[in-house]
Amino acid sequence: MSVDLILGLQWGDEGKGKIVDFLTNSYEIIARFQGGPNAGHTLEFDGIKHVLHTIPSGIFHSKVENLIGNGVVIDPVIFKKEIENLNKFKIDLYSKLLISNKAHIILPTHRILDASSEISKGKSKIGSTLRGIGPTYMDKTGRNGIRVGDIFEKNWEIKYDLLCKKHINIINSYKKKIEFNLNEMNKEFFKAIETLKQFKVVNSQFYLSNAQKSGKKILAEGAQGTLLDIDFGTYPYVTSSTTTAAGACTGLGIAPKDINEVYGIFKAYTTRVGSGPFPTEINGEDGELMAKAGNEFGSTTGRARRCGWLDLVALKYAIQINGVTQLIMMKGDVLSGFKKIKICTSYDSEKKLADEFPFNLSENEIKPKYIEFPGWEKDISDINSENELPKEFISYMNFIEEELETPIKIISVGPDRKQTIFR
Ligand code: GDP
Ligand code: IMO
Ligand code: MG
Repeated sequence: MSVDLILGLQWGDEGKGKIVDFLTNSYEIIARFQGGPNAGHTLEFDGIKHVLHTIPSGIFHSKVENLIGNGVVIDPVIFKKEIENLNKFKIDLYSKLLISNKAHIILPTHRILDASSEISKGKSKIGSTLRGIGPTYMDKTGRNGIRVGDIFEKNWEIKYDLLCKKHINIINSYKKKIEFNLNEMNKEFFKAIETLKQFKVVNSQFYLSNAQKSGKKILAEGAQGTLLDIDFGTYPYVTSSTTTAAGACTGLGIAPKDINEVYGIFKAYTTRVGSGPFPTEINGEDGELMAKAGNEFGSTTGRARRCGWLDLVALKYAIQINGVTQLIMMKGDVLSGFKKIKICTSYDSEKKLADEFPFNLSENEIKPKYIEFPGWEKDISDINSENELPKEFISYMNFIEEELETPIKIISVGPDRKQTIFR
């Protein structure tokens, strides 16, 4: 068993980028398995902050190969910008970055479709990142999509034009119109396609299978989080891919029997960006404090993230679906200075749903039940050993660990690579 997974257990932005980078030394390959440029994975070291959208978070380690898997959707325009940003760091991208020939491509019109759909929904909009994610996965499952392998075929532009025309018809059918310049967008797109073509495009499931046979260790990097999963998330306020452990099998072509550790990553509280139910959301001063201390603004869109207390009902559900073997707790430092810290242990509702994650997480019906913990004053962001952590922090963490019946193996106390404690 040579593949480990790392995935978010909440509504995304748990800190996956930081931890993948931190763990990369123990692996030979980092492979992204789903999502696209809706993701924003942040890494910090040597005083520099990097945000990656499509490129796996192992890219800064010289001996590691990074694969964009078949389950990922790639926007060539955003990909080109990411490459240009990385160029100044003198990374040998052309040998270290590989792309699956089965990954689907986001067309400029997918982005317009996303925006048109969102505007037409009015108040009930998903709050998508407007990166064209939903429409691209729809074309994938509708069997109309264009894959990276296609761009090396003769006359693939004919297929592109056909799909584009189809999109324009749909866009025109929306009452609310969005202005766009297709010629300009196409120019930018085809230029970016040339950049994409310079990379190693591989039959990725064979590449991974051969790597496994030669004893290489692989870390599969998830995007988004379990509660945004297309099947198990808070539908319809979800993304359009399988963000859970099963997504690593379909998004990379690895067999379930080859999966070893499943690292589940969560914040010591909860955040959500975009619309949708959020039972433990704090509307008030504590929420604002959390947002400020945690710098809770989206890495991709810059939108303010909604903040709330830790939700054990949701976490238990996420651990169950993913078969999490080890937990990683992030951003405990953000809670320093809170007089009281709450943890939701069950939901109270008219339907007596107790501690089961419900089918419809409608805000009005569900009342979270909390346990209160005393906070700690001390700034913990410089601490690098568990023994030095305040006793209040330890009891908060021990309670979570016991309730979740899964060990917390890593504690993160700041955005930098160094602010990480192994247990
Ligand atoms: P991802 O999408 O899961 O990779 O997470 P994001 O990068 O979108 O969001 C996590 C944010 O929290 C980033 O700005 C990180 O730099 C930051 N971060 C990660 N871990 C910690 C931590 O332990 N403490 C603090 N204060 N910030 C952290
Ligand atoms: P990372 O990988 C947080 C949210 C959007 C919206 C919903 C659907 O950085 O954790 P989409 O554009 O996917 O159709 O939007 O999902 N969303 C994320 N929220 N982190 C992400 O990625 C997200 N990717 C999508 O805000 O609510
Ligand atoms: Mg993010």
